[in-house]
Amino acid sequence: MSDDFCEDIWLALIRWYRLNGRDLPWRHTNDPYAILVSEIMLQQTQVERAIIKYQEFLETFPTLQSLAAAAPADVIRAWATLGYNSRAIRLQTIAKIILTQYNGVFPSEPEQLLLLPGIGAYTAGAVACFAFKKSAAAVDTNIRRTLWRIFKGEVFKPANTPKEEYAFAQSVVPPNGDDAYLWNQALMDLGSSVCLPAAPKCDICPLINNCRAAVIARRHSLFPEDASVAPILRAAIAEESEKYIVGSQKRPQKPFRQSSRFFRGRIIHALREQPGAILLTELGPMIKQDWEEHNLSWLEDLVSGLVRDKLAIWADDLHMAATLDGASTDLLLD
Ligand code: ADE
Repeated sequence: MSDDFCEDIWLALIRWYRLNGRDLPWRHTNDPYAILVSEIMLQQTQVERAIIKYQEFLETFPTLQSLAAAAPADVIRAWATLGYNSRAIRLQTIAKIILTQYNGVFPSEPEQLLLLPGIGAYTAGAVACFAFKKSAAAVDTNIRRTLWRIFKGEVFKPANTPKEEYAFAQSVVPPNGDDAYLWNQALMDLGSSVCLPAAPKCDICPLINNCRAAVIARRHSLFPEDASVAPILRAAIAEESEKYIVGSQKRPQKPFRQSSRFFRGRIIHALREQPGAILLTELGPMIKQDWEEHNLSWLEDLVSGLVRDKLAIWADDLHMAATLDGASTDLLLD
């Protein structure tokens, strides 16, 4: 990629972002702890929902120290309604590790952040860039799709390994940390509001004159019979990067309301509402409408999974009751 080509794109997108970027609470801080909280929340939660929870969570646990010292059951309660509760426990584990193994000094390089539990390449890059102004790539679904369209004129293809994907994204991050910050935040906003998966709004895109996919699309509309253009364009329009699964067919998914994740969420909710332990035979009808006694082993498996993930604890030796509060004093403070 020529430097001029990149520089034109950086300038155009950053100018657009200064005028059109979303005003989000985690964009008003460079506290790495707050940014980590936001990024872990945003891993599986929509921005709109995360905004309120982010503020509430930081009011309850304003520092690494306060989070590390909290009872895990309280951390899970503060995470309430966001789902994927193991994220809350991972966040607390990270806080403890930074305090005990890093003397409270937050790692700032992506390679160091990657060593923390539950931090993948995206989150490591995002925290390094947003908190420490490192020139680091952060590639989530929106950014991947947007970058691939702009620079390559194509949708993301599974032929790219994650390593290649990062190497490419890193090669187009501005070297200056302040610009890298604006670049990554801007790509997120462009990807979520303009460079949409199925119907990109090229007419209002600040990169209409730079984007390779837009150039191909224009050429196709001028020369629709041009066979060299059509396949790329068809792929770009019809296929979404999210629909590609590397090396395999897309797995058929169960409806959410029949999924383990759905029932795990309901169990945590029931345990959260209950001051003490609940017998599995009482828990079953609370979480499953058509509960029958023979579902007991299914429920035991689900609760075992939560215990394994340190989100619950068996309240007695017979494995017949589960509790959230018990988790805070025994298993979780290891
Ligand atoms: N998703 C993940 N990180 C984000 C951020 N900083 N801004 C908007 N959406 C995001």
